[in-house]
Amino acid sequence: MASFLSPVHVITGEGTLLQVPEQVRAFGSKKVMIYADPGVVKAGIVRKLEDILNDTHIENVVYSEVVPEPPLEAGNKAVQALKDSGADFVIGLGGGSSIDIAKAAAVLANHEGNVEDYLNMSGTRSLTNKGLPKMLIPTTSGTGSEVTDISVFSLESTKDVITHPLLLADVALVDPELTYTLPEKITASTGVDALTHAVESYISIHASPITDTLALDAVKRIGGNIRTAVWHGENQEARKQMSLGSLLAGMSFYNAGVAGVHGLAYPLGGRFKIPHGEANALLLPYVFEEIWPACMQKMGDIAEALGANIEGMSEREAAIAGVKELTHIVHDTGIETSLKAYGVKENDIEQLALDGIKQKRLLGRSPRKLYLNMIRSIYQKAYEGRTSI
Ligand SMILES: [Fe+2]
Repeated sequence: MASFLSPVHVITGEGTLLQVPEQVRAFGSKKVMIYADPGVVKAGIVRKLEDILNDTHIENVVYSEVVPEPPLEAGNKAVQALKDSGADFVIGLGGGSSIDIAKAAAVLANHEGNVEDYLNMSGTRSLTNKGLPKMLIPTTSGTGSEVTDISVFSLESTKDVITHPLLLADVALVDPELTYTLPEKITASTGVDALTHAVESYISIHASPITDTLALDAVKRIGGNIRTAVWHGENQEARKQMSLGSLLAGMSFYNAGVAGVHGLAYPLGGRFKIPHGEANALLLPYVFEEIWPACMQKMGDIAEALGANIEGMSEREAAIAGVKELTHIVHDTGIETSLKAYGVKENDIEQLALDGIKQKRLLGRSPRKLYLNMIRSIYQKAYEGRTSI
């Protein structure tokens, strides 16, 4: 059995930001709260949306204090700001943090308690209603957060999530034009994050024919365009393919889940504040070096989707080619490949491994069970920046 969920309405295409007023009106809403981070404000994207709303006489207010890898207090502050604003429609505009905060705020504005009360691992309350209507607009390609029901929060040494179908967007709007000015480094890390969503959901034990179709298409689009998008960001076709790839990967991983790479990236984000995309990219080669023997056919598919010529190869050789292609992408996009560069010390590895193995929700989807000794070895290799395939 497999079930598939996604937002009811997904809008894609260049220039679709202009559709926002029509969508706000469709919900009978009068005042919009826009969640964004200072980077998106600086890039002029918030101004663009404000102008569109002002031109159509829709009252709006901007909350631009969203921080990367938001801690619980940041979530609670954002919820309070929404309650105080009198807004009746929420827009999340930005990378994963802005979108995650918008999702959580829209729902929690209509609930008792704080963000921590609804966390997956330690929360004690359940969501009962969808709160305010919400529209999620990514400015990266990306987190896929616009089509998932997950809000991620940083704890002291790891991360936890609020996850519930009530967090799904009423409208997800993907306008590739919003990614045109994304810097190289963010294009690389968010792009590899999207690729990781695609490959982890493809090999997930919860994959289905629907998610496989979405995931493999996403692997092709991202793999075929990420280098161009990073190094020639003005290439609109590459940007468009990355936006679509990220969206499709998001729809896939929302249903099939992500696994070991994301699970082990969480402690890196929580303890060392390594940005989500960079943490995933750092771990991607090392996690796949451990798990490929448990999903050889699918790794061969990934190799082919990433452009490797697997003709004449054995299933084993093709699977290894898949791992190599993933590693090449991380290297070719200029992302750091060693934890040392982030100030992680060798004697931090044990604690990282102990925190990593607690991510049972994510690790449980891995096709190869990841034991503590394997997790330790993954962090050790990532620390040294040493691939073995
Ligand atoms: Fe991710």
